[in-house]
Amino acid sequence: MPGIRGPSDYSREPPRHPCLQINAKEPFNAEPPRSALVSSYVTPVDLFYKRNHGPIPVVDDIDRYCVDFCGLSETPKKLYMRDIRMLPKYNVTATLQCAGNRRTAMSKTRKVRGVGWDVSAIGNAVWGGAKLADVLELIGVPKLTSSTQSGGKHVEFVSIDKCKEENGGPYKASIPLSQATNPVADVLLAYEMNGEPLNRDHGYPLRVIVPGVIGARSVKWLDSINIIAEECQGFFMQKDYKMFPPAVDWDNINWSTRKPQMDFPVQSVICSLEDVQSIRPGKVTISGYAVSGGGRGIERVDVSIDGGKTWVEAFRSQKTGVPYIADHISSDKWAWVLFEVTVDIPHSTEIVAKAVDSAANVQPEKVQDIWNLRGILNTSWHRVHVRVGHSNM
Ligand code: MTE
Repeated sequence: MPGIRGPSDYSREPPRHPCLQINAKEPFNAEPPRSALVSSYVTPVDLFYKRNHGPIPVVDDIDRYCVDFCGLSETPKKLYMRDIRMLPKYNVTATLQCAGNRRTAMSKTRKVRGVGWDVSAIGNAVWGGAKLADVLELIGVPKLTSSTQSGGKHVEFVSIDKCKEENGGPYKASIPLSQATNPVADVLLAYEMNGEPLNRDHGYPLRVIVPGVIGARSVKWLDSINIIAEECQGFFMQKDYKMFPPAVDWDNINWSTRKPQMDFPVQSVICSLEDVQSIRPGKVTISGYAVSGGGRGIERVDVSIDGGKTWVEAFRSQKTGVPYIADHISSDKWAWVLFEVTVDIPHSTEIVAKAVDSAANVQPEKVQDIWNLRGILNTSWHRVHVRVGHSNM
């Protein structure tokens, strides 16, 4: 692809914020301290988790960079950045969460494979760009199409990066055409993050944002977009990011029996306390994030200070101080809510959070019940332990 290239080594990586906890160096995978997530509703770009499967691509000439559209006719159509920028621009506030968020905790019950993550493989950003539905219309696919005349039912996004899982080939993923051509689904070809051009780590010059769906489908550094009959056959759709029952292990796994994971389930995490944390007895404000996939709102966040025996309801907000109403016109449909509750903690205990979404889905209590060999979607009740002491801490 002219104008952009995917290096095969790590000599051209961008600079990164020193406070990120590095979970893997090459490819670069890192998350911010959990306390950073509740400092603001919109996560600053440099503190947003970085999840990569290869070296970060290099743009040599942005004027020559374009995206190829294949699958509708013999000759691919090309769109340059100027063509995409000419379409109406939308700002969509959406939370991106890696399916591997909280994997380290799942691995503690029984070992799973994959990069370990604490609770911060998640962030909330304002993504600016063109709606994929408008882009597809421009190349000849009308809005609200679920199948093209030539049998296309899925939209595949292909990157330029080189991933070892793909034997040096690019990262790719797909979504159903019906979702891609539905303007209400808010799928973006994004060129901005929090009002600035995307930076290299997050997909410069152009990435997909699929709100409400695991981060793995939001392909960065777009090279081509293909209209295809079956879902993408790439490694990350077919041999990864699938949810298996606890009885499946690496000896009896049959990848084709499960569908690629798309929406993520309801999740909540306490961010104001580490596990384990020492505190003085008295009033403590507990805060964190809660989010659900598929555009479902957060109906409730319950917090327990006795390990899950009794619960109090936390205050939820998106805009500081303004009570959040799930699925209301004033709420950001695709974004997390921050929760907060002040409680009295007289002695050492276990603090727990669980959220309920607007479809009344609730987080599972035990990680053992949702254990899966790839360690995805650990949405079990989030627990932190506090040690209450009276001396200087
Ligand atoms: N796109 C490309 N081209 N290469 C990748 O490695 N990682 C995916 C997705 N898109 C990935 C990609 C995964 S697993 C996640 S969780 C998100 O990007 C992370 O996006 P971020 O690094 O901007 O936070």
